[in-house]
Amino acid sequence: MKLFDTQPKSDPRYLYGREKELETLVQYLKQKDWVILLGPRRVGKTSLARCAITKLGYKNIVIDARENSNFMQSLMSSLKESRASLGLRAEIKIPHVSLNLGVSYNKVFLKEGLNAVLGKTKRLFILVDEAQWLSNPRGVTMILAHIYDYYYDKVTFVITGSTIGVMKSIIEPGAKSPLYGRAITKMDVKRWGTTVSLGFLKAGTKEVGLEMDTKTGILVEENLDGLPGWLTLFGYNYTHLKNPNPALKETIKEAKKIVAQELESIGKLGIGSERLIVVVKALAQGHTRFADLIEETGFNNTSLSKYMSTLNKLGYVDKDNKGNYAISDPILEQLIKEKL
Ligand SMILES: Nc1ncnc2c1ncn2[C@@H]1O[C@H](COP(=O)(O)OP(=O)(O)OP(=O)(O)O)[C@@H](O)[C@H]1O
Ligand SMILES: [Mg+2]
Repeated sequence: MKLFDTQPKSDPRYLYGREKELETLVQYLKQKDWVILLGPRRVGKTSLARCAITKLGYKNIVIDARENSNFMQSLMSSLKESRASLGLRAEIKIPHVSLNLGVSYNKVFLKEGLNAVLGKTKRLFILVDEAQWLSNPRGVTMILAHIYDYYYDKVTFVITGSTIGVMKSIIEPGAKSPLYGRAITKMDVKRWGTTVSLGFLKAGTKEVGLEMDTKTGILVEENLDGLPGWLTLFGYNYTHLKNPNPALKETIKEAKKIVAQELESIGKLGIGSERLIVVVKALAQGHTRFADLIEETGFNNTSLSKYMSTLNKLGYVDKDNKGNYAISDPILEQLIKEKL
């Protein structure tokens, strides 16, 4: 593995500039806290989670909600796949799980399916990645609460995602939620500052036998900001093209494609994506204050507040301490400007 490899990192040796975060997360997990990692897209949440788990060296399974939105099913099939490494001898039956589960079905599942497996495992980490894509918040929180209550000593969850959909039910469980009253630790993963970004670019280029002067580094950083995902993609392109300017061009092109696809998929979350885009467009045109945004978009106070909060939770918009809003990803900003 290398710093500029584009898969999420799982080996702490290739996790750049996150020593403190890694230490903190490892401490939490050691003391059996369940942790939710929040932060903008491509900031390195999955990498941080995987590296912490690797560092602890316990058994683990990964559930990627983008691949299957049915939590029970993916939990059971991940357990089944890892049966040998988890040291489970008995056959794992995967009950047929429909999306709309009745409470009684849940109980049967918990008792017969889950308990049969978790009862026999040793200390286990479960990484639920991109949890906002899970469906059925009630079912998910019920399973989590069950595991929390019965297997806290041996099963620890690390969850990543945006604070919407199921994630919202996990982070802010209402009084009626099965998860209510159970403490889950939140950790914010922040983008890199200029110095760390430049350090990463230098270390990565050195590793692949290339060079990068500070001026070029600053140009790249200005275009991609301190988002590890884009900087890594640049590094990957630079490794292959061996020339920084075409590599930056190629990176921006690919990054725009990725962001455009994501914008499309937000529509599937059923959160009024068209209106969100209207707000992002207004931001890209330079309207950064709430009052200006109201004037520009024509949305009322309540609606706009809601959209700003959703955009913030999705990691697309930041608010500074002076109350100004900004698009958090320069690539998204460019893409929106081009479409205006
Ligand atoms: N600290 C780091 N050191 C080296 N590379 C990193 C680091 N953090 C992230 N990366 C790289 O950046 C990219 C995005 O990382 P990752 O998938 O972990 O981010 P994420 O926050 O989970 O993103 P997403 O929002 O898409 O789920 C990957 O290519 C990964 O290898
Ligand atoms: Mg991720």
